Amino acid sequence: MNARPLHRQLQSLAADETGIDQFCEQAVKYIKDSNDKFDWVGIYLAHENRLHLPSNYFQGPDPDHKEISFSEGICGASASEKSTITVDDVNSDPRYLACSIHTRSEIVVPIIYNDELLGVLDLDSDAPAAFGKEERTALEDAARVIGEYLGRNS
Ligand code: SME
Repeated sequence: MNARPLHRQLQSLAADETGIDQFCEQAVKYIKDSNDKFDWVGIYLAHENRLHLPSNYFQGPDPDHKEISFSEGICGASASEKSTITVDDVNSDPRYLACSIHTRSEIVVPIIYNDELLGVLDLDSDAPAAFGKEERTALEDAARVIGEYLGRNS
């Protein structure tokens, strides 16, 4: 755990001008390390109504779903609605695409810059209802910094 708030760590990382791949790879590490309940963290990038997970843009077990259409999954729903979706119990949400049998809850936060959807920040937890108000706010702040970085550098 780092004493600085997550979005401050990401702002410092953005100021380092490391390049998009290194930024995203380090960003998911910072995010995963910020909370013991975050068991999987990934940044999917949007392209032509599909989401793609570049290699190393995730922390946690290698997932089955590296490409997701906007019409599939919690990730696709968040991308098409451009809104955060929190699922307290993934087993009761028919949209859920399973990546790990251990996952119990999920949050997907859209990454937006100047109203354009650039991707989504996806987190899974092995604990039920792991993403409360505090976690959601921290992750939406994080997604805003990621959006600004990607929007200005891609
Ligand atoms: N559960 C996601 C798919 C991605 S994996 O969790 C990494 C979904 O329903 O869109």
